[in-house]
Amino acid sequence: MDTRETWASRLGFILAAVGSAVGLGNVWRFPYVTAANGGAVFLVVYLIAAVAIGLPAMLAEFAVGRRARRNVIDAFDEIGYPTWGVIGLLGLATGFWILSYYSVVGGWVIRYVFASATGGYFGDPNAYFQGIAAGPAAVGFHALFLGLTVGIVALGVEDGIELATKVMVPAILVVLVGLAVWGVTLSGAGDGLSYFLSPDIDVFANDYATIVPAAVGQAFFSLSLGMGVMITYASYLGRDDDLAVDGGLIVVLNSAVGILAGLVAFPLLFSQNVEPGSAGAGAIFVSLATAFASLPAGRLVGVVFFGVVLVAALSSAISLLEVVVSYAVDRYAVGRLRTAVAVGVLVFALGLPSATSLETLTLFDRVASNVWLPLGATLVVAFVGWVYGQAAVDELQQGAGRLGGLGPAWLWLVRVVVLATLVGILLLGVADILAVYADIELLG
Ligand code: TRP
Repeated sequence: MDTRETWASRLGFILAAVGSAVGLGNVWRFPYVTAANGGAVFLVVYLIAAVAIGLPAMLAEFAVGRRARRNVIDAFDEIGYPTWGVIGLLGLATGFWILSYYSVVGGWVIRYVFASATGGYFGDPNAYFQGIAAGPAAVGFHALFLGLTVGIVALGVEDGIELATKVMVPAILVVLVGLAVWGVTLSGAGDGLSYFLSPDIDVFANDYATIVPAAVGQAFFSLSLGMGVMITYASYLGRDDDLAVDGGLIVVLNSAVGILAGLVAFPLLFSQNVEPGSAGAGAIFVSLATAFASLPAGRLVGVVFFGVVLVAALSSAISLLEVVVSYAVDRYAVGRLRTAVAVGVLVFALGLPSATSLETLTLFDRVASNVWLPLGATLVVAFVGWVYGQAAVDELQQGAGRLGGLGPAWLWLVRVVVLATLVGILLLGVADILAVYADIELLG
């Protein structure tokens, strides 16, 4: 296994992990799920969940990945617990599931890059979105997005993933800051800001049973946790990194991008009198398209913005695909290119329902964040906390500076608080999906 690939540098790893984390989850999903869950209250719960639950869970994945230096399934075998390899199997399945609709949304973004250049959505942004979100064209752009993803993964860890993300992370920060500054100064922006930033405790009291699982699910989705991405990425890592510091940086950068996206989306929605709760999965597309249509250099700004979102989406999509490809390459010694293409074809087929129905896409998304990711994370955390235990602490302490002393506290946090929270939100999340399903039955 000496030929296994590694990151060229520590920065390369951090940027690839940030590249995986920062994506449609921050720019598309976060504003729309925030709007569906009452605004500012959701933001608060999300931030607490990212730091208190997400970060410890991320370190749990890092510990397994770096110790084992294997793909998500064989990693557990390598460290002496082969049965826990089911976590990896679940991770592979979740990767297929998420990528199938993620790529449809990625296809919308490609479409919007072109439509910005031509002014295609300038007439009626809302109707434009409804027209392109599902149907034959959405299927075509879904295929195109997947094709790009397959291409980058086929190039490998260093030339593909690492290089692509080095450009993306700085670019998205710069563009979002610029747009946020502009959005905040629009007339009507104040209402959007208070909706996004001042929590209303009554909203929480009434709806905590949907808000909390949605917020924890969003934290896991956004940080790429719960399906082994971070196990896989840490498996390409050297021994001397301070994993706690890396993890903290990833959480801070990722949250910053989510907040920036909200600072762009909500002032724009309010300044155009769009009721945020009604915006749905098209929130960011409709609001930004409307804004760009009324800007002097709107076409240029639109191309730049959606271009950057596209790169962010690709750098996340490649991590979803990489989990599967890494397994096939390790285990069966098949070529990267062939595996990536084969998986791409399967994912394309699985995405067809989402590419032809917006409701299906939304349901796939909800099941991923409410069920699959909490389930995967629960299993990883239970394993690392109660089975692997001290060995995980030892692994994290390798290369850790002063923070190494926090190891035992981290272990108990994982064993009790993180695990109990995940089990709780998994139950709430399943209940939520069953309720949605019952609604559909009733309507149908
Ligand atoms: N975190 C990415 C985003 O926010 C999506 C993503 C990539 C992901 N890999 C993942 C989500 C693994 C869950 C699990 O866009």
